[in-house]
Amino acid sequence: AASDPDLVARARAAKEALGERVFVLGHHYQRDEVIQFADVTGDSFKLARDAAGRPDAEFIVFCGVHFMAESADILTGPDQQVILPDLAAGCSMADMAALTQVEAAWEAMTAAGVADSVVPVTYMNSSADIKAFCGRNGGAVCTSSNAEVALEWAFEQKPDAKVFFLPDQHLGRNTAILKMGLTLDDCVVWNPHKPNGGLTDQELRDAKMILWKGHCSVHGRFSPEVVDELRATMPGVQILVHPECQHEVVLKADLVGSTEFIIKTIEAAPAGSSWAIGTEMNLVKRLANAHPDKQIAFLDKTVCYCSTMNRIDLPHLVWALESLVAGTVVNRIQVDPDTEHWAQVALQRMLDLPG
Ligand code: 13P
Ligand code: SF4
Repeated sequence: AASDPDLVARARAAKEALGERVFVLGHHYQRDEVIQFADVTGDSFKLARDAAGRPDAEFIVFCGVHFMAESADILTGPDQQVILPDLAAGCSMADMAALTQVEAAWEAMTAAGVADSVVPVTYMNSSADIKAFCGRNGGAVCTSSNAEVALEWAFEQKPDAKVFFLPDQHLGRNTAILKMGLTLDDCVVWNPHKPNGGLTDQELRDAKMILWKGHCSVHGRFSPEVVDELRATMPGVQILVHPECQHEVVLKADLVGSTEFIIKTIEAAPAGSSWAIGTEMNLVKRLANAHPDKQIAFLDKTVCYCSTMNRIDLPHLVWALESLVAGTVVNRIQVDPDTEHWAQVALQRMLDLPG
């Protein structure tokens, strides 16, 4: 639907009034009505870098979800204020790993005698206190665009290292198997709702990858069957999916990569080529509109928007910007100093990775 012209004018006026004082970041899964006001768009890795690269902006308005705004707060200066236009924009995947659960898992690994060889790595899509846990325990953050280099780094940190990968089992498994040459047997899943994660101490000792039982409620819904159906109905189609999809889906795909990779792949694709994309719907629709010379389909029509990403809409953005013009900072995201310190350590290890 077209954006409300009155709200568009108000957003434009508020941004103009704030000038260089405000910097608006927009994740690729945001609505078009919001993306049009983003100073930069990107995946979570690019946006984390972009936020850190704007030390002069007083206000960072983050059009994305809560964990991204937390990361922006950690990576920006103490005088910069990060604003999330709707505080209800969380992430179901990030919510699947609570610090108390992760600490209980760590204690169990210590009791099993394996914690000394474990390097924790958390996906960006996690709360700041999980990032801090990784920072404190010699680990790092990764995103979907650098998971491979992050795992390479992690396996080099200790002799016979194991990786404890949080919170997305699919990104962990897909990267371990497709990029690191590990096998399904090298991976075990830690279920926080079962005693000892549902694992024996021997299974913990034998594993190379201990995957947290978390997933994305959007990407996790694509099934291998829809890939087969599409190949039957769209001959010549190329299947392009995000690594948050299940391993069985990724195995059947032609290409797999982060949202930035998906965008670059479609931009570079020849006219007339045909694609089915397994990622969030706002991005797929935008790509289809931007490339009318290519046939672009959504991998599964029953999987739709990320509901929490979609909470950031034009009314919320206008409210946040107009409040700033009026001198009030609303919905500030501020990580406490100790969590910030250790999460920054883990984020910096990621930013220091080669590539
Ligand atoms: P990227 O931005 O790292 O591709 O992650 C996708 C996602 O689900 C963000 O919430
Ligand atoms: Fe979280 Fe998935 Fe939504 Fe990304 S797309 S914010 S991982 S629920």
